[in-house]
Amino acid sequence: MTAAPPPTRLQSGHSSETAHLTARARASDAVVEPGRRLLGDTFAHLFVTVPPPVTSQEALGRLQRLDRAHGGFIAEILLRQRYFEDLVALAVDAGVRQVVLLGAGYDTTALRYTGPDTVRFFEVDHPATQTAKLEALAAADLTSPVTSVPLDFTAGASLRAELTAHGFDIDTPCVVGWLGVTFFLPPEACRATLADLADTVAPGSLLLFDYMDEAVVEGTSPYEGALQMARQVAEQGEPYINGLTAHSAAATVRDAGFEPVEQLRVTDLVRRYGGSDPYCSDDDFMGLVTARRAERKVGGHGD
Ligand SMILES: C[S@@+](CC[C@H](N)C(=O)[O-])C[C@H]1O[C@@H](n2cnc3c(N)ncnc32)[C@H](O)[C@@H]1O
Repeated sequence: MTAAPPPTRLQSGHSSETAHLTARARASDAVVEPGRRLLGDTFAHLFVTVPPPVTSQEALGRLQRLDRAHGGFIAEILLRQRYFEDLVALAVDAGVRQVVLLGAGYDTTALRYTGPDTVRFFEVDHPATQTAKLEALAAADLTSPVTSVPLDFTAGASLRAELTAHGFDIDTPCVVGWLGVTFFLPPEACRATLADLADTVAPGSLLLFDYMDEAVVEGTSPYEGALQMARQVAEQGEPYINGLTAHSAAATVRDAGFEPVEQLRVTDLVRRYGGSDPYCSDDDFMGLVTARRAERKVGGHGD
C-alpha cells in the first residue's frame, strides 16, 4: 500500500507561500524604472514580509538573481497578469461587468482598476490565503473592493453555489482568471472545478488559465531552473502535481464546455510585452489558454 502524501501547506491551515513569492516578484517589479517595468503592481508590497528594494537598480538585481536561478518564472508571474488585465479591459469595453479570480492570492487587479464602477470583482481562494490577504489589507487600512469567496477547490464544495450565495449573477457574462493555480491541484479537482465553472458562468464568458508543462511535473523538463523551483515549492508544502501540454490543456477545457480561443506560451508574452531588452528570460515551460464558455447544453443548469 502506498503511503498517503503529507498534507499540503494549505491543508495544514497555512496561507500560500507561492502566492507570497508571486507578490514579492511583483513588489520588486513595481520599483523598476518605468521604461523596463513589466507590470507595475503598486499594491504588491502590502503582502510581502521581505521589504521590497528601494531603487530600480536594486529591484532589477533581485529579480535577475531569481531569474538566473529559475528562468521563465519572472516572465510568467508578471506577464500572465498583464495579459489578464488586458483581457479584462477588452471584456469591460465589450460590456462585461463581472470579474472572477480563482485562487486570487495577493492579486491586486481590483485595487488598481480604474474602469467603470459598475464592474464587480469576486475573489475565490482557499480560506487560509484569503484570511491572510484580508488581514494585510486591514493592516494597511484598505477596504477591499472585492467580494471574497472562501473555497477549497479540493473539498468538493460547489463553486456555483458559493459564488451565487455571494451575489454573482450566473446570467450575465464574466471574465475569469485562474492564474498560477492549476498545477497545485489534483487533476480530478482541476477538471471538477472547470466543469463547475462552466456550469456557473453565462455563455460568452471568458476564462484565462495557465498550466505547467507535464515535463516539469514529471521531472523530465530540460529547464533545470523549473525543476529546481518544483523541488523548492514541494519542500514548502505546495508541490506541482498537475502538468498539462498545449494539447491536453485545450482538450480539458473543451471537455468542460469551453472553447479555446487563444493559446500562448510565456515566450509569446515576453515578445508581446517585454520590450526590446526584457530583464527576464523566456524559458519555455508554461502556457496559457483563453477560452470562451460555449452555449449551455439543453437540460443543464440555468436553461
Ligand atoms: C501561486 S499562487 C497564485 C496567486 C495569484 N493567482 C497570482 O497569480 O499571484 C496559488 C494560489 O492558489 C491558491 N490555491 C491553491 N490550492 C488551492 C485550493 N485547493 N483551493 C483554493 N485555492 C487554492 C492559493 O491559496 C494561492 O492563492
